[in-house]
Amino acid sequence: MKDDTRIVAAGRDPHANHGIVNPPVYHASTVLFPSYDALKSVDGRDPRKVVYGRHGTPTTHALQDAFRELEGGDLAVACASGKAAIAIALMAYLEAGDHILITDSSYQPTRAFARDVLKRFGVEATFYDPRIGRGIADLIRPGTRIVYTESPGSITFEVQDIPAIAEAAHARGALVVADNTWAGGYFCKPFRLGADVVLQAGTKYVVGHSDAMCGLIAAREPHCEALWKAFVAMGACLGPDDAYLGQRGVRTLPVRLRRHHETGLRLARWLETRPEVARVLHPGLESSPDHALWKRDFTGSSGLFGVLLRPVDESRLAAMLDGLRHFGMGWSWGGYESLLVPVDPGPARTAAPWTEEGQLLRVHAGLEDPDDLIGELEAAFDRLNAAA
Ligand SMILES: Cc1ncc(COP(=O)(O)O)c(C=O)c1O
Repeated sequence: MKDDTRIVAAGRDPHANHGIVNPPVYHASTVLFPSYDALKSVDGRDPRKVVYGRHGTPTTHALQDAFRELEGGDLAVACASGKAAIAIALMAYLEAGDHILITDSSYQPTRAFARDVLKRFGVEATFYDPRIGRGIADLIRPGTRIVYTESPGSITFEVQDIPAIAEAAHARGALVVADNTWAGGYFCKPFRLGADVVLQAGTKYVVGHSDAMCGLIAAREPHCEALWKAFVAMGACLGPDDAYLGQRGVRTLPVRLRRHHETGLRLARWLETRPEVARVLHPGLESSPDHALWKRDFTGSSGLFGVLLRPVDESRLAAMLDGLRHFGMGWSWGGYESLLVPVDPGPARTAAPWTEEGQLLRVHAGLEDPDDLIGELEAAFDRLNAAA
């Protein structure tokens, strides 16, 4: 079966449920056992067993099965948010005295988790240049347990050479944990590139409709048992209704992502022609320094990219952003709607400091007609130019 077919089919069994296409939403905490023997013999370490609401229900299993079809791996767990997925995936494999390498382009709360939580538990973090490639080998120490990637970063969009990083990490006994949210698990397959654990903020493209929080993690053997233990220990399970929305969203993910890809590239190409724009940060553009790597490891791009404006004062920026109708201003992405927000490329970056002048905007190209989106951006630039 091809990817799109597997994603539609995985985790569904209509004829075990009166022929109803989608799985039911199981609201559960207590699970009853029919006999003393059944109660005594249940194995709470088995991720497929329904023993207690927090461990999973057929609704979460449907989402987890679909996610495993999407990303690959041998075990998937669904948790309360993308942030919970990051915390669980890291806590699963780290212990006091360990060292972790994190890309400088990572989602900023990932950096904060290392700084504010992991450090207190005796784990040291070093941040590395996302374009380091094979050079990561020089930063790996005897205690390095994880090399964390996010490709491309969701603010600055550098693509990482995961195969080179994985080769260096594995040679020294470190794991590669990949945040694959940007590619939605569809346009990039980090397990095939060498990652050991892959996570996503399912909140974004898996849910796809901006109406639920969701985190997803998949691991391949021999890393599944540690993931399952951490998932159960941290207790951040996904609620039934959000699990349902996640499993429903994933069915249409390929179609939505292909449209995000097309519209995103079209907007990016148009923005490149604008005199107000210094640079467009989109790995699918031939002008991107990451284009060759993106072509090698990705089959498409999502709707999220950056636009660096030539320096403007704040009142012009406000004039540009106020009055948008199709583009909302908000900090998430991955829904059906377009977004445009000013972002700070990372005041905390250490390994690859951001030195470019001008305001960076983050664009999420939604599913609206691209002509309407371009028309609105044109009007927004007119307002910027007309403002005093
Ligand atoms: C790349 C990336 N990873 C993880 C997360 C965290 O996801 P959530 O907001 O579901 O906690 C986000 C959220 O914006 C993100 O952009």
